[in-house]
Amino acid sequence: EIYIKGMLHNITPRVTTDPNKLEKEARKHLGDRSFAYVAGGAGERATMDANRLAFRMWKIIPRMMRENRERDLRTTLFGVTHPSPLIMAPIGVQKIFNPASEPGAAKAAEEVGVPYVMSTASTSTIEEVGKANGGGQRWFQLYWPFDDEITISLLNRAKASGFTVLVVTLDTASLAWRPWDLDNAYLPFVNGEGQEVGHSDPVFRRKFSERNGGKQVEDDIHRAAGEWSADVFSGKAHSWEHLEVLKKNWEGPIVLKGIQHPEDAKLAVQHGMDGIIVSNHGGRQVDGAIGSLDMLPEIVEAVEDKIPVLFDSGIRTGADIIKALCLGAKAVLIGRPWVYGLSIAGKEGVKDVLKGLMADLDQTIGLAGMNGIRDCTKGMVRRVQYPG
Ligand code: FNR
Repeated sequence: EIYIKGMLHNITPRVTTDPNKLEKEARKHLGDRSFAYVAGGAGERATMDANRLAFRMWKIIPRMMRENRERDLRTTLFGVTHPSPLIMAPIGVQKIFNPASEPGAAKAAEEVGVPYVMSTASTSTIEEVGKANGGGQRWFQLYWPFDDEITISLLNRAKASGFTVLVVTLDTASLAWRPWDLDNAYLPFVNGEGQEVGHSDPVFRRKFSERNGGKQVEDDIHRAAGEWSADVFSGKAHSWEHLEVLKKNWEGPIVLKGIQHPEDAKLAVQHGMDGIIVSNHGGRQVDGAIGSLDMLPEIVEAVEDKIPVLFDSGIRTGADIIKALCLGAKAVLIGRPWVYGLSIAGKEGVKDVLKGLMADLDQTIGLAGMNGIRDCTKGMVRRVQYPG
């Protein structure tokens, strides 16, 4: 579609198709603080670099003379077949990027057929996002509160709003040292830009009021945001045994996000989890950590096909998706690229980025001589190191 528009009608795309220009283009649409929040990472961004370098080390080995004009990108996860292996990674506080925010992104997800993972730190309520996503596939990402009553309230609301899979993020016991945000005195939900965030939950609101002499969340949004984040990002860790609370209160699949160590992957299997996401939060948590892709093969081996292994952190192109699939990921989550699309052109921008990635994936799979994602196997990639 983009080729035809360009070559025959001289129409250039609304959002750049060049992954390396996307961030620069988004920069023009964002204030300093919002840009720093999305483009930044932990510490000196060494983990973000490692994520990209890891993709550079793996190379695809193309095959020739294969009849493969019809490529099958369909992907089945937890009994549901999706048109492609793409998933929208959970992203918080989207109102700081574009007024379309979570409802726009969730609608875009429905329109392109990609599962939408709603963040607990959203600037719209669970009910609003569920409605906006309509007939789409939606998953709920939990920043896991220490108060079980609040957790259960969030889970019940997510269930009632049609969310089917629970994604529990484990790598954010507290927020990392993120200089780009610290230099801007920036934490979007404490600075009051994301009024709805987790503290829109009715159980949280009741407890807030009880603790604060009848004060409502709206009376002191900063304090509410502070109390909410002080609980969820307190630095305390939940125990593996505590997963029972989630299992008891969520009938659908539960997926742990933020796994980087094969031993943790094994623990996830032992504790009856339904899937894991190999992720380092896009390099936003532990600075100096290994590139997420580098841990994927060992984790896939450790899991022995008992549960699906999903992947994120650093994916920017169709080739990157192929590499992750060849190394054993069943599906991939995309983070910053679609946030840049949202920043540039709202809902349509999200769609442009996702459709672009799907087209790139389809094209590259074809050129590499594969018939679809079922041909993405370990033998199609090799790890190399070129000098310099
Ligand atoms: C995130 N991420 C994230 N993860 C999560 O579990 N809950 C959240 O609320 C957020 N919020 C969030 C905001 C922003 C601005 C970014 C960039 C990231 C992490 C996200 O889900 C995913 O793991 C990474 O973004 C994947 O890496 P790439 O694709 O951005 O390199």
